[in-house]
Amino acid sequence: MHRPWSNLRARVFPDHWSLLFGQIAFYSFVVIVLSGVVLTVYYEPSVDPVVYDGPYAPLHGVEMSRALDSTMAITFEVRGGLLIRQVHHWATLIMVAAITLHLLRLFFTAGFRRPRRLNWLVVFGLLIVMLAASLTGTSLPDDMASGTSLAVLDGVLQATPLVGTALSALLFGGEFPGDVLSWFYPLHIVVLPAVLVGLFIVGAVLALRHKPAQLAGPGRTEDNVVGRPATVAAVKGVGLLGIVAGVAILMGATATINPVWLYGPADPANASAGVGPAWYLAFLDGSLRLAPGWEFVWWGKTFSLAVLLPVTVCTLFLALVAVHPFIEERLTGDRRHHHLLEHPRNNPTRTGIGLAGVTFYGILWAAAGADTIAVLFHLSVNSLLHVFQVLVILGPPAALVITRRICFGLQERDARIAMLGVETGRVVRRADGGYVEQHRPVDVYRRWRLVGSAAETRASTTQTIPATRDIEHEGAE
Ligand code: HEM
Repeated sequence: MHRPWSNLRARVFPDHWSLLFGQIAFYSFVVIVLSGVVLTVYYEPSVDPVVYDGPYAPLHGVEMSRALDSTMAITFEVRGGLLIRQVHHWATLIMVAAITLHLLRLFFTAGFRRPRRLNWLVVFGLLIVMLAASLTGTSLPDDMASGTSLAVLDGVLQATPLVGTALSALLFGGEFPGDVLSWFYPLHIVVLPAVLVGLFIVGAVLALRHKPAQLAGPGRTEDNVVGRPATVAAVKGVGLLGIVAGVAILMGATATINPVWLYGPADPANASAGVGPAWYLAFLDGSLRLAPGWEFVWWGKTFSLAVLLPVTVCTLFLALVAVHPFIEERLTGDRRHHHLLEHPRNNPTRTGIGLAGVTFYGILWAAAGADTIAVLFHLSVNSLLHVFQVLVILGPPAALVITRRICFGLQERDARIAMLGVETGRVVRRADGGYVEQHRPVDVYRRWRLVGSAAETRASTTQTIPATRDIEHEGAE
């Protein structure tokens, strides 16, 4: 039986920087777990009220939950506590960013094709579970920011037809705000991290089971992997762990994040301006802001599109991202195994679809900050939201069309360079009186990438690549 780890020492691993995001995500997870274990020693997951009498004078005499009181103690009384909190939070942001970039890299280089369709689902799962871990984590301090996120979540649940009220009661253990911490805490420190560990293990086994996917380059074929031996890759991995931990500690030591002492305790009846969800959840908030406030009555019940529409659209968007490899395979009929990654420009339609998705996400994301943008540029929030409403509909198709055109243009340029070399800007006169620009041949690595493009250009477009003679006469007087 073929074991994923058999013959490991004899294998080679490609080490292009774009292939490192998955590793960075794992190493930041290690930092999160280590810092999280330290936090559990001091944190109290209790909503029982206490009156604050710690060293931070502006909050003296303010009533807050034990959870916030203990977070304040971690921040101001535990030696190195603030650093550990901030390292935990920064490492979270690094991990979300790394998983997102990993997913984008897999998409744009077609790293999700057979035999790696399951890898894609694992990385997508990592992102979703990670978002849940972040949401439960940011709720733990029970400050104004976490209270506001939970109030939005409660609003969304309550507006969900049929099951909404029950779901809200289940989540908050009764009426909002309830005692959500009592079960968010075990979810945060045990269940979700365990699921993440499981997904990392499945991802690693799947990655080891197949030949590593690699970018096109000299000597790299579907059958031949060019890279570092396993031992070198392992040593480099340890170095990368050190770098990721170092960056998280440096950021934790120098950049303030989640200053709960400025926000104060959660108050469901109050939300201060500028307090919004974390950036990676902002697209959900943006979708709520852009939805029109339409309502309709059906079977004696009132349904609000203001919540139903964004929840449906965002769920559909995420579902489409998850099943993209399967849809693409169905549509293209390409069921072959691929170990060479594709250059994004060589598949203009896929790259266009990806950019359309990124545009959609980006507009929702920007809409979440509409109030801040309006204040900053002295604009009307309502007008700005109307602009975003138009953009969210027109932006994605426009991005698809423009990206496809750019990709075709880049392919054509690649083909010219592969055939003629790089323009030197030096024009010489030929014996027959004509003028010609001299070209410098490209190096072998670049030619490999370009030749791939040229081949795909011929296959996928009807445009013909200009013949050498035509180019020679360009610029001739
Ligand atoms: C990938 C998994 C995890 C993520 C994304 C995550 C994220 C977060 C975030 C963003 C916070 C808020 C920090 C702040 O106050 O600014 C937090 C708080 C906390 N986390 Fe985690 N965490 C994870 C895993 C863990 C683990 C494994 C533990 C413990 C073993 C842990 C223990 C805690 C504790 C005790 C707090 C509350 C203390 C505080 O907010 O300062 N976390 N987490």
